[in-house]
Order: sequence, then C-alpha cells, then structure tokens
Amino acid sequence: VAAETVLYIATSLDGRIAGPDDDLSWLSRYADVDYDFDAFFAGIGAIIEGRRTYDIEQRIGWQLPRKVPTFVLTRAAPPAPRDNVVFTNDAPSSVLATARRSCGDGAIWIVGGADVARQYLDLGLVDRLVLSLVPVILGAGTPLFANGNRVELALCETRTFDRGLVQLTYVRG
Ligand SMILES: NC(=O)c1ccc[n+]([C@@H]2O[C@H](COP(=O)([O-])OP(=O)(O)OC[C@H]3O[C@@H](n4cnc5c(N)ncnc54)[C@H](OP(=O)(O)O)[C@@H]3O)[C@@H](O)[C@H]2O)c1
Repeated sequence: VAAETVLYIATSLDGRIAGPDDDLSWLSRYADVDYDFDAFFAGIGAIIEGRRTYDIEQRIGWQLPRKVPTFVLTRAAPPAPRDNVVFTNDAPSSVLATARRSCGDGAIWIVGGADVARQYLDLGLVDRLVLSLVPVILGAGTPLFANGNRVELALCETRTFDRGLVQLTYVRG
C-alpha cells in the first residue's frame, strides 16, 4: 500500500496559515499547548514542503524531534546541500513518488505552505487533512484554501486541547 499523505497544518478561524508578512506570532502564542504533535510526528517518514516555508523554518530555527527525509519544492537554485534535505523542481506527483520510496513505514507530511498544499489538493494527492484551528481571526494574511478544485471531505475526528485549540481530521469524502 502507498504511504498515506497528510496535510497537517494550523490555521486561524478565517483559514489563514500566516498573517501579513509571514507573521506566525498568533501561532507561537500557543507553542506551550500539548496538542499531541509528538504522536503525530512519530508516524511520519518523510516531509514535503515549499521553499518559502523551508526558508522561514530555517530563519526561526524550527526543530523537529528527529530528522526525516525532507523534500523542498523550488524552482530556484538550491542552497548548499544539507543532510536529509532534497531541493527539487520535479513535478509534485514525482516528488511524492520519491518521498514514498524514502519514508519507510511512515506517512508523508505535507507541511505546506498554501501554494504547495493547494497543488497537492488539486492533484487529489492529499489522503488526510488535519487542521489545527487557532482561536483567532487574522483578518489578513495567507489563506490556506485559495481558488482551486473542489475537494469533498469526510470528518473523522475532532479533538479539543487546552486554550481552545480544536483539531479537525478529514479524509477524502
Ligand atoms: N500555519 C502553519 O501551520 C504553516 C505551515 C506551513 C507554512 N506556513 C506559512 O505559510 C507561508 C508560506 O506559504 P506559501 O504558500 O507562501 O509558500 P510555500 O508553499 O511554502 O512555498 C512556495 C514556494 O515553493 C516553491 N514551489 C511551489 N510549487 C512548486 C512546484 N510545483 N515546483 C517547484 N517549486 C515549487 C516555489 O519556490 P521558489 O520561489 O524557490 O521557486 C514557491 O515560491 C509562510 O508564512 C509559512 O510560515 C504556515
């Protein structure tokens, strides 16, 4: 069986993944809330993300509990090679096929951002969507769901965590 793909991402109530100028302060205010990330990440064998997200993670010093093969989509010249990170201009479907060969028994985490998430949604390549809803209306910023194909979903789980975080899990309907 092909490894499952999971778009696991945090959004504001108005469906944004970043405020203006890539502001993530609304999210970092909740960094101390235990929303079971470690259990999710334990099941992950590879990561796919866009170059903008990757660069921001590098800038803010984002650390994951362990290294997993990471595929960064970019059309630009890649930076110096790094352990476990592949910069690629291959088609998103080919990148996924490559990630599936690298992920062992784990699932594939599509980290985002909006640009990359939309492409995988449009291609019908997102098996599971886990939205962590933060109780804030940003009013401006980067919408996760801009224009694209219609995607029918079925809700399979809702969880609530401290300080009003709600996590919704959907599979394709
Ligand atoms: N709230 C959350 O949980 C969360 C999660 C992830 C990200 N974010 C935020 O989302 C924002 C970034 O999202 P974004 O939509 O602006 O950008 P993104 O999806 O992270 O990255 C877009 C970039 O990826 C590359 N790319 C996209 N599709 C490609 C393709 N088919 N082939 C080759 N390269 C491709 C291009 O990079 P090049 O320009 O290098 O060609 C493009 O500029 C940031 O603010 C980030 O912090 C939030």
